[in-house]
Amino acid sequence: MRPSKVFLVGAGPGDPELITLKAKRVLEEAQVVIYDRLVGDGVLNLVNPDAELIFVGKESSFHSSPQEEINELISSRAKEGRIVVRLKGGDPFIFGRGGEEATHLFSEGVPFEVIPGITAASGISAYAGIPLTDRRYSPAVTFITGHRMKGEGIEGLNWQALAQLNHTIVFYMGVANLSEITKNLITNGRDMNTPAAVVSRGTMPEQTTILGTLADISEKSKENKITPPALLIIGEVVNLSVILNWSEAYGIGGTSD
Ligand SMILES: C[S@@+](CC[C@H](N)C(=O)[O-])C[C@H]1O[C@@H](n2cnc3c(N)ncnc32)[C@H](O)[C@@H]1O
Repeated sequence: MRPSKVFLVGAGPGDPELITLKAKRVLEEAQVVIYDRLVGDGVLNLVNPDAELIFVGKESSFHSSPQEEINELISSRAKEGRIVVRLKGGDPFIFGRGGEEATHLFSEGVPFEVIPGITAASGISAYAGIPLTDRRYSPAVTFITGHRMKGEGIEGLNWQALAQLNHTIVFYMGVANLSEITKNLITNGRDMNTPAAVVSRGTMPEQTTILGTLADISEKSKENKITPPALLIIGEVVNLSVILNWSEAYGIGGTSD
């Protein structure tokens, strides 16, 4: 039997209406959907009700398994001739292991398609009123992970280079290492008064934005009991959140509000 196609699909950052029309269509046509922890119920409600739904995020039997087992699951279902959707939070190619899964499919001769999603940095900064670039304050943006592939630490990052970036930096997966991240940036030369924000559960009704500086954002996040998923955004653009954070000011609604 010829393998059917695997769709590596980005579900967006949380608000289910941020999914693409293309992703919605393949979810409706899917026969198997293999999904992660950061995919919310709103998106799962779009899935073909007859599809086999397989959870491979944290708390699943797959979490402690190596990525290879998930790769194998995806390709074996496709080789059964079933239309497979591998559904991931945000965008599959940004801190989503989509590249590893696509490489596996290529090596197994399984056809695949990648459907991009709105990545957390983009969706959440929009909802929190923080333009990641802005001609007045920042000509560029860097996305970085606050947790490396092997082990939970952040050792191995070039802090000197990061501290010299005079533009916006967004840390994904940084909550557990917040104080280490901010300390490293300050000791390597970034101004301790640089504005910083932590946004948790962005684009969802529970979105919470904590504003501060490199010097105090870690403490403020602790005081406010911020838990993952959350993003750390650093740079002058963060100040704009005070006036542009429309979602926490007016709510995440629609045209009827
Ligand atoms: C494993 S990475 C996956 C990123 C995803 N592929 C993307 O493009 O957004 C997970 C991290 O994304 C960030 N994240 C994802 N969804 C988020 C949300 N709704 N609010 C805040 N941060 C979020 C957090 O930093 C979280 O630890």
